[in-house]
Amino acid sequence: MSLDVPVLPDASAAEALRADLSTWTVDAVEAVVGDRAMRALAREQVLPARVASRASSTVEATLTRLFLLGDAVPVRDVDRALPSVGADGAARLGLIELSGGEARGRVDLRPYAATHEDGEAQWWVASDQGEAVTGARLRDDHVLGIGGASLTLAGMTMRAPVGRVLDLGTGCGIQALHASLHSRAVVATDVSRRALAYTRFNQVLNGIADWDLREGSMLEPVAGEEFDLVVSNPPFVITPEGAPQFEYRASGVPGDGIVSTLISSVGAVLAPGGVAQMLGNWEVHGGSSWQEGLEAWLAASASAGRPLDAWVIERDELDAAEYAETWLRDAGVTPERGRAEFEAAYQAYLSDFDARGVSAVGFGMVLLRRPVSGEPTLRRLEQHEGALQEPFGGYLVAALAAHDRIAGMTDDALLATAWTAAADVTRESYGPVLQADPSYLLLRQGAGLGRSVSMDTALAGFVGACDGELTAGQIAHALAALLDVDSGRMVAGLVPAIRELVADGFLE
Ligand SMILES: C[S@@+](CC[C@H](N)C(=O)[O-])C[C@H]1O[C@@H](n2cnc3c(N)ncnc32)[C@H](O)[C@@H]1O
Repeated sequence: MSLDVPVLPDASAAEALRADLSTWTVDAVEAVVGDRAMRALAREQVLPARVASRASSTVEATLTRLFLLGDAVPVRDVDRALPSVGADGAARLGLIELSGGEARGRVDLRPYAATHEDGEAQWWVASDQGEAVTGARLRDDHVLGIGGASLTLAGMTMRAPVGRVLDLGTGCGIQALHASLHSRAVVATDVSRRALAYTRFNQVLNGIADWDLREGSMLEPVAGEEFDLVVSNPPFVITPEGAPQFEYRASGVPGDGIVSTLISSVGAVLAPGGVAQMLGNWEVHGGSSWQEGLEAWLAASASAGRPLDAWVIERDELDAAEYAETWLRDAGVTPERGRAEFEAAYQAYLSDFDARGVSAVGFGMVLLRRPVSGEPTLRRLEQHEGALQEPFGGYLVAALAAHDRIAGMTDDALLATAWTAAADVTRESYGPVLQADPSYLLLRQGAGLGRSVSMDTALAGFVGACDGELTAGQIAHALAALLDVDSGRMVAGLVPAIRELVADGFLE
């Protein structure tokens, strides 16, 4: 049975296509359509880009109309824009269809760029066309292109050089492309044959050395293997029976089962020191907190012999009705398009959530790590709805390094270290105007997660002296004398606070 995906080019056809596309970069698209249309595209609105690109006759405008906007373009313009492959060649590859002197894109193909240590990588990524382009409901086995969640995961992934990477639920292969820049080997899996065909197409189109692509569910295709990095933007959308079931976003497993399974079992395929980074949804039940569910999944991993370091950042929490509305809208199910269908699906969501006592659903980022040896030292489940430092993966690398450093440091070593207050840290004081001493002293971070910490006089005095000259022990003893406090008590009070400030990046 035909998968209805592009035909895999041989190496020379891929090289010819790359040569034809070489000037069609992210910047070139922006130059064709302009800022306003770029912002509209990010909201999945194609009209401003269609209008702008029709006013230009450059090769880049033709490629943008053909592949990104699904516009009909004269075949002679396609021959000019793809001089090596030609319109006939592109049709043979299944990228376009020709009819009556006009060509129309059959797939979404777009340039995509990523910065990395040695510069910028430029790729082209094919996937199924979205609803904004076709105007039609997505097929159930739709292969997702580069979406907001794909970019969030790519941005939060730690890009240190690693050996083996697993991209679980690869879709069009976007995470695998990123991984290929900093790993020795990439294994990409998916339950969808169509997704794997697109991934292979994108690998070959971009002239990337072989990826190991495997069909299968969850960890089954890699059972018994170990990876240094696992990345996954799994099909986490909670989808009851009666609501739209798209393979790319719904796993078929009830509730948040796909995320719980992944969190409690991914440790089995992590090499010592290996990290798993993923996105997920989690249900919040009745009177319990969102952290309780995640703690239970982490406990299940530990019971299965894989205790893990864990850092979870909940980015958003929606009540059951808000969640249903969000994902129905995303599926194109709205009252304007069909009130009966919308209300039936909405009701299915509410009944499903009510039956399981779900009061809210959280969305967030998960980082798990198998300790190199010994017990986990990191367990942080926190909420952060604000903006994140970019690139967030770089922040996570530095934060984990700081955590490891301080976790492995004795109190004596900590006291013998001359710490420096990080450059982005500022001090704030609050209190009544006529009061000489402030009631509250706060340390605030400009970078990272923008954390703030309240301080007593001793801690404020300590941080204020952290200029990298004096050791923590010297400052603590001087403060004890100044504030007329016993030295031992001062040190005992400061050490845990210093540990937290180092782990959170306030002190370096
Ligand atoms: C949200 S898409 C993510 C695609 C891509 N990795 C990204 O970051 O944009 C989820 C992918 O998981 C795949 N998938 C669905 N169920 C799966 C399962 N049980 N095991 C593995 N992959 C699955 C879907 O086919 C889809 O390609």
